[in-house]
Formats: sequence, C-alpha cells, structure tokens
Amino acid sequence: MRSLLVCAGLVLAACRPVAECPSLPPARLELAPRLLSETGLNDPSTRAYEPRFPLWSDGASKRRWIRLPPGARIDNADPDAWQFPVGTKLWKEFALDGKRLETRLLLRAEDEWLFVAYAWNDAQTDAELLPEGATAVLGTRHSIPAATQCQGCHLGTASRVLGFSGVQLEGTTLSPQKLFDEGWLTTAPPSYQVPGDAKTQAALGYLHANCSHCHNQTRPPEGEARCWNPERRFDFQVRVATQAQTNALNTIGAPGNPSWRDVLDRAGRTSAQGGMPPLAKDVVDADGLATLRAFVEAR
Ligand code: HEC
Ligand code: HEC
Repeated sequence: MRSLLVCAGLVLAACRPVAECPSLPPARLELAPRLLSETGLNDPSTRAYEPRFPLWSDGASKRRWIRLPPGARIDNADPDAWQFPVGTKLWKEFALDGKRLETRLLLRAEDEWLFVAYAWNDAQTDAELLPEGATAVLGTRHSIPAATQCQGCHLGTASRVLGFSGVQLEGTTLSPQKLFDEGWLTTAPPSYQVPGDAKTQAALGYLHANCSHCHNQTRPPEGEARCWNPERRFDFQVRVATQAQTNALNTIGAPGNPSWRDVLDRAGRTSAQGGMPPLAKDVVDADGLATLRAFVEAR
C-alpha cells in the first residue's frame, strides 16, 4: 500500500519494478545438457580466451572458453555487435581459493541465446545444471544467479555476448586480427583502440566491462517489464564507430544525467546497498574503484 501511494506522485515509468525478467521458454531450457561434461567444454576445438577488461565478480577467479560450430564464422559486419552462428557455445568458470564453484554457459539457439549455470560438486568431478540459482555455493560467499537473471545483463546488447568482442579482444592472444586471419570473422576488423591516456583508457574499459551492457544507447527495447533495464540513456559503452561522440566522456555530467561523483558513489557500494551493478555484486571492487577515482581526480 505504501509503495502505491509513493508511486502515485511519481512518473508512472518509475513505478515499474526493475527486476521483472522474462521466464525461460521450457523448450529452450531443454537444449541444455544436464551435466557440464556433456556440453562440449572438453572438445579439442574449444579455445580459451581472456577479455582485456573483465567484469568484477566479487574477487572470484575466472576462466573462459569458446567453441564455434565447425567451419562457421562470426558475422562482424557491425564491428560493435558481433553475431555468432547458431550452435556457438561460450563458457565461464568461477573459482575461489582454487575450488571450482560454477561454470556458466551461453548457447546460441535458433531463436535466441540460452543462458544457464552449472554448479560444481564437492568432489570437483562435474557440474550440474542449476537454472534456479543458489547462494553460499560449496560453503563460500559465492552466489549463482538464476537463469532468468542472466538476461538482465546479457540481453542488454544486440550481440548478447559481452566479453568476446572487438573492444574486449584487442591486444589479447585472440586479437580480432588473429581471428580474422584464422577465418573466424567475416570482415577485416578495425582497430579497437580505447580513446585517451592510460588513466582514461583504464576507466573507460572498466565502465565498458562492468556497466555498459545495461547503460548504453543501443540496449534493445523491452516491453512493459524491466529486466534490470535503466531508464536513463547515459552511456558507458566503448564503440568503434561513434566512440568519440557518445561514450561516457560525453554523457556523464550532461544535463539530467548523473555526475562522475554519482558514478563513484554507485561503484563504491554493493548491489544490496543500492550500488552498481544492481545485481551480482556482494563485495566492492577496491581496485576498480581506485581506477575510476584516479581518472575522475585527473579530470
Ligand atoms: C551483472 C551482469 C551479469 C550477469 C547477471 C551475468 N553476466 Fe555473464 N557476463 C557479464 C559480462 C560483463 C561478461 C563479459 C566480461 C567477463 O567475462 O568478465 C560476461 C560473460 C559471460 C560469459 C562468457 C561469454 C561472454 O558473454 O562474454 C558467459 C558464458 C556468461 N557470462 C554466462 C552468464 C550466465 C549463464 C549468467 C546467469 C547465470 C550470467 N552470465 C549472468 C555480465 C553478467
Ligand atoms: C544489470 C544492469 C545494470 C548494470 C550492469 C549497471 N547498472 Fe546502473 N542502473 C541500472 C538500473 C536498472 C538503474 C535504475 C535503478 C536505480 O536507480 O537503482 C541504474 C541506475 C544507475 C545510476 C543512477 C542513474 C540516474 O538515473 O540517476 C548510476 C549513476 C548508475 N546506474 C551507474 C552505474 C555504474 C557506474 C555501473 C557499473 C559499475 C552500473 N551502473 C552498472 C542497471 C545497471
């Protein structure tokens, strides 16, 4: 009742619950094998990679892999929104103190991506599909998000894949140019240089990795429900074509948008304390915050 009264005085949009993610079509969920060992992770054609700006995950260490269907290529005609062929799989493993806790899977199905997590057993022999998520995994502080929650971040860009992209792979062992030379990309890639000096690059890269999948100006529109979809259109995304015009440097502090102080404030709190990201952050990223602060103070 109280929230109804509060809402009556506000713009209607602000009253829409922010965490109303679509439920998963059961047919899509059935595409996920029950065990991680059945997903193809150990196939010889599966390759490890590392994004240059990782997402903060409460201090967990992470490993990542990708597998394309044989002979298939990634359509990179839009340099900032790579489209992956049906059958593509990407995995991300989370470990704490040397113990594997969770391995997440992105699978490109015919109609849309499937996002699911597998929880490791105590004996560390295999991991089992867990669409409903879990807390305090294997006695640690680590939580596994429910499969519906993955959408809050991964549906925020047209690619759906957030860390295997031009911006994220430039300068790594699987650089866009190397991928093109090996026949993984359809189009010769541009240079994905991040603008500015070292401090600026580090801060923009951090915001790109940790914030831009929700705060960008190309987030695909949703219906009535908001699945962690911010209403304001400021922008943390580093893009090739328009990076000089529309990235964080130009939209933060613009009239009606948050200031750099607001950004530091949100980055310095956990999700539960009203910080950002609004989900999946239980521990503040001290190094990340220092990176942002160094950049803001030098401005
Ligand atoms: C708070 C936002 C957020 C949530 C929630 C989230 N992810 Fe991600 N995920 C990311 C970002 C950002 C990356 C890329 C950066 C990295 O790998 O560190 C990523 C990377 C991945 C990757 C590697 C492929 C890629 O897109 O780069 C997989 C697989 C993955 N996530 C699966 C999942 C699954 C499954 C869930 C739900 C159980 C989930 N994620 C929930 C933000 C999120
Ligand atoms: C999972 C999606 C998601 C991610 C990732 C995310 N945000 Fe947000 N953000 C939101 C939503 C939804 C709101 C609006 C709800 C609210 O104000 O709490 C918001 C609001 C904000 C606001 C207040 C905006 C305003 O209109 O005044 C700031 C500032 C902000 N985010 C900064 C960040 C920063 C910095 C990061 C990365 C460290 C980040 N966000 C990551 C979804 C996200």
